[in-house]
Amino acid sequence: MDLQKLLNSMTVDEKLSQMTQLITGIITDKNDGPITGPMRKFGLTKDTTSRVGTILGGSGANHSKDLQNFHLSEDPNKIPLLFMTDVIHGYRTLYPVPLGIGASFDDDLAEQCCAMAAKEACVSGIHVTFAPMVDLVRDARWGRCMETTGEDPYLNSRMSAAMVRGYQGSIDSPDRLGKYKIAACVKHFAAYGACEGGRDYDAVEMGDHTLRQYYLPAYKAAVDEGVELLMTSFNTVNGIPSSANKYLVRDILRGEWGFDGVVISDFAAFYEMISHGICENEKECAKKALDATNDIEMMSTCFVKNGKQLLEEGEITEKQLDEAVMRILKLKEKLGLFDNPYRYADSEEEKEICLCKEHRDLARIAAEKSAVLLKNDNVLPFNKNVKKIAIIGPVADHGMIGGWFCCGKHTEAISVIDGIRNYAKDAEIVFARGCGAHPAEMAENVSEMIAQAKQVAKDADAVIMCLGEEIDMSGEAHTRAKIAVSDSQTALIKEVCSVNKNVAVVYYCGRPIALEKVIDVAPATVIFWHPGTEGGNALANLLFGEVNFQAKLPMTFPREGQCPYYYNRLNTGRPNGSQGYCLNYSDSPFPPVFPFGYGISYTTFSLSEPVLSSAEMTENGEITISLSVKNTGDRSGIETVQLYVQDVTASVARPIKELRGYSKVELNPGEEKSITFRITIDDLKFNTLSGKYEAEKGLFRVYVGNSSAINEYKEFRLV
Ligand code: BGC
Repeated sequence: MDLQKLLNSMTVDEKLSQMTQLITGIITDKNDGPITGPMRKFGLTKDTTSRVGTILGGSGANHSKDLQNFHLSEDPNKIPLLFMTDVIHGYRTLYPVPLGIGASFDDDLAEQCCAMAAKEACVSGIHVTFAPMVDLVRDARWGRCMETTGEDPYLNSRMSAAMVRGYQGSIDSPDRLGKYKIAACVKHFAAYGACEGGRDYDAVEMGDHTLRQYYLPAYKAAVDEGVELLMTSFNTVNGIPSSANKYLVRDILRGEWGFDGVVISDFAAFYEMISHGICENEKECAKKALDATNDIEMMSTCFVKNGKQLLEEGEITEKQLDEAVMRILKLKEKLGLFDNPYRYADSEEEKEICLCKEHRDLARIAAEKSAVLLKNDNVLPFNKNVKKIAIIGPVADHGMIGGWFCCGKHTEAISVIDGIRNYAKDAEIVFARGCGAHPAEMAENVSEMIAQAKQVAKDADAVIMCLGEEIDMSGEAHTRAKIAVSDSQTALIKEVCSVNKNVAVVYYCGRPIALEKVIDVAPATVIFWHPGTEGGNALANLLFGEVNFQAKLPMTFPREGQCPYYYNRLNTGRPNGSQGYCLNYSDSPFPPVFPFGYGISYTTFSLSEPVLSSAEMTENGEITISLSVKNTGDRSGIETVQLYVQDVTASVARPIKELRGYSKVELNPGEEKSITFRITIDDLKFNTLSGKYEAEKGLFRVYVGNSSAINEYKEFRLV
């Protein structure tokens, strides 16, 4: 397709429509039928809606084909529509929410899961997913922790690249964007996770060093992996909404990083610049968004309604429009839409592939690999021959599929009751809800419900308590001021544990929850996030020891009131632990309940003292760090060994330690393996006071352990 010729033939209105994204309901207004309302609200004519370049939603092989046919019959230029939607943790088969994938510390798993989601979405007519979301988050109150892989820039960057590879195919692969692949859209640029107080949409105030050093790397990792699109964020960064942020989008993203893909707004974010208080009307929104080199406006209509006038008044140039439209057309061409506007949408394959056994198996394995065992006082694994199992809790009797369930259905997911029943076929299974999941759900009869739960638990051989957050308690706009386990759930745990000692509490959550009041009560505690379609089967395998736990926390689990809290903080001039006036709380212990990187299993591991290859490293040299890891328990297992580095003295204060590597080591009982980490100059670089990204000579410390709470270190000097 000669894209330049096509572009030259387009009118200004057609270009502006191409730069607009609406939901399907607005576009398919064939007979001015049911969606007249939204059309009126937007004040759009049928000419505009029939020419839009992209739509939000519209999945299902036949449905997407119908929409494409309808669009092509109306569009004067016959430019195929691009179908975009949020395929975040699966399309029809759902795997754990991204925070759970982060907990796996398993890049290959992240890639496989996204590849599976891409395959299902691709045959169902989707071309682009609004994923991965790689916003760094340090505050557990933010509802969208669930959609990130956590608090660490290094882990997030590796996950970001792996997810892009999964959706699109790897950057050098001949199959990239081919059959079963879709384009990825990294989001939300930039620093959306740093909203003040963890309040969704709130302002971000941040110095350039912190922005570049900690918040930007995961977006950059996606760009380096060839991500095709990027979404700007709702928030302001230092007073400028990302939609109009020339520094972020034009200068850093396009200028410094050389990104020439499509930039899309978040939902109605251009229009929201009026509420932000930087634009008086939609016309100003359109100008500012275009000047920042945005290409597609999602679900508002500032471009289509004002672009022409802005052009006539000389406020914008046709070159700006042409550049944006060309980027969109190029993406359509890369995806093969000009050759086949339906791409790989195929209702037969859709039936065969979506929710197939292979995908359910992968979803189950992912849930098993994402579950974090925090505590186990010899109660787990439960004996396989137990006669009576009590299942208690408000989230045990339905599938916990996670907040972005896309085309997945609760009814297709395995609840805990289903999973345990599938596993322990001969056991008697009894259930009591016990209390509500929402803190507000303090049913009048809560004491009655607790009494029932006690009754059910009393003579059971194993008690599984499924507590924490319902899936609608995290996600967009679900900030919580209080992240502690609710009073009713706390009371329930205490009462149940008073009548039975064989209790495992399993928390479902989309964020870290504050566990200090409950962690000592039950003998075993598991964090299961929102595990997806196969959650119940995965949990049965874990609790009965068919598989071992291996995940680690991708975020610090703080105490109530400690947020924000993250492991890679600065030391301060008065570090915690020094005498008198120092970094501390006067009404709470200083450490969190569980640190980043923490997680145990059914076996134990010992790590030998790490040996550095040299006490000095030159600019072109490298240091290797070698150690052996031994399984000292009586079950096979996988330990995630973590490498942290501290730049002791630098021109800008550096964190007390930063993750720089991890390695998953699989060991049989008694087995020992050697592992080696490498550090080169690239691992020591940072944004220095002089504004450069480089390493500074001096002393470095190296920590190797099985969580971030490790104090022993070795030193070397960069000379
Ligand atoms: C969210 C985005 C999402 C978009 C489209 C917005 O509200 O912030 O993450 O991609 O909606 O569904």
